[in-house]
Amino acid sequence: MKKVVLSYSGGLDTSVCIPMMKEFYGFDEIVTVTVDVGQPDSDIKEAEEKAKTLGTEHYTIDAKEEFAVDYCWPSVKANGDYQGYPISTSIARPLIAVKAAEIAKKTGAEAFCHGCTGKGNDQFRFEYVVRALAPEMEIIAPMRERNYTRTEEIEYAKQHGVPVGQSSDKIWSIDENLWGRSIEGGRLEEPNYAPPEEIFHWTTRAQDCPDTPAIVQIGFEDGVPVSINGFKMDPVSLITAAHKLAGDNGVGRVDIMEDRILGLKVRENYECPAAVLLIMAHKSLEGLVCTKDERMFKTMVDQKWGELAYAGLWFDALKDALEAFINKIQERVTGTVSLELFKGNAKVIGRTSPFALYNEDLASFDSKTFDQSEMTGAVKVHGLQSRMYWMLKKD
Ligand code: ARG
Repeated sequence: MKKVVLSYSGGLDTSVCIPMMKEFYGFDEIVTVTVDVGQPDSDIKEAEEKAKTLGTEHYTIDAKEEFAVDYCWPSVKANGDYQGYPISTSIARPLIAVKAAEIAKKTGAEAFCHGCTGKGNDQFRFEYVVRALAPEMEIIAPMRERNYTRTEEIEYAKQHGVPVGQSSDKIWSIDENLWGRSIEGGRLEEPNYAPPEEIFHWTTRAQDCPDTPAIVQIGFEDGVPVSINGFKMDPVSLITAAHKLAGDNGVGRVDIMEDRILGLKVRENYECPAAVLLIMAHKSLEGLVCTKDERMFKTMVDQKWGELAYAGLWFDALKDALEAFINKIQERVTGTVSLELFKGNAKVIGRTSPFALYNEDLASFDSKTFDQSEMTGAVKVHGLQSRMYWMLKKD
């Protein structure tokens, strides 16, 4: 008996993988694993029903809490961004792969199958994690290996009893988890095509937002959000509440050009209200408690962290080392940040922390604690080398 574990979303690509595993790869037992990282419940139900129809041994794993604590929170600490959007798909893929590898071991499967195409980033992310955790496992990617067109795929599905449903009319390709939602495909692929309103499900368009601003306070402990408006919340509830507050005020739409891992340039639309809000608040609190050098250096660390996380290299050595630095800094990222949300914009309007490096008496225009006359000498030598260079250049 040859057994394979399939990372299963319930969508067309992964569903088609089921008969393919039997027909082209000689497996007799297919185990499907759907990992709940906050996608719609209807997607999870659909996966369960299709798995039943297609006769697989199915597992649904609720990993929302783990996703929030071990993936979203590290992303907040690192202000996790890639080319101008808060990364979300890329931080969920490692966890999905970890769970699938666990089920593979538990059920004695000898192979791992995913439904990623050969054009995207997810193939890199899934396979890296499975190879890292279960090097003995054979990895199969039927979508990439068979190279079907969409039409051929639908034809194959129909012939093999795979429910196609509305797949042929579904224009948008959507990936969704607690931290963000991406919308791709159809005319959205054209960089100059304005996104139609129908692609947005999490954010209200500016003209339909409330006419009065919402003020929200985010409390942080050790770099991690712990409360909203003074109410302590568990991580999943906090992300869900932040999502609602920001989304209802139109915050969290991002439309960018993105360079995929291999360099393929694509147009991407995201909705990520909670991530935008929480990372904005977090950055602002770091601005209050970090030294100038820490801030400057951390910007570089964050950027590199974002690149590694985007590439899916979750267990990478450099990523580990960067996190050691990031976590050291986060020991002081405790406090509260106030933000104003209004018609698609979020802005910080206040921040406070027991670790603030700000001193009112020193900074104030009205204080004599700082003896200004002592500055005369310091100002004289400012830019010494810079002035010497300028003299030379003049000659
Ligand atoms: N461009 C984003 C990323 O690579 C989102 C991709 C969405 N993935 C998907 N399979 N639909 O992280």
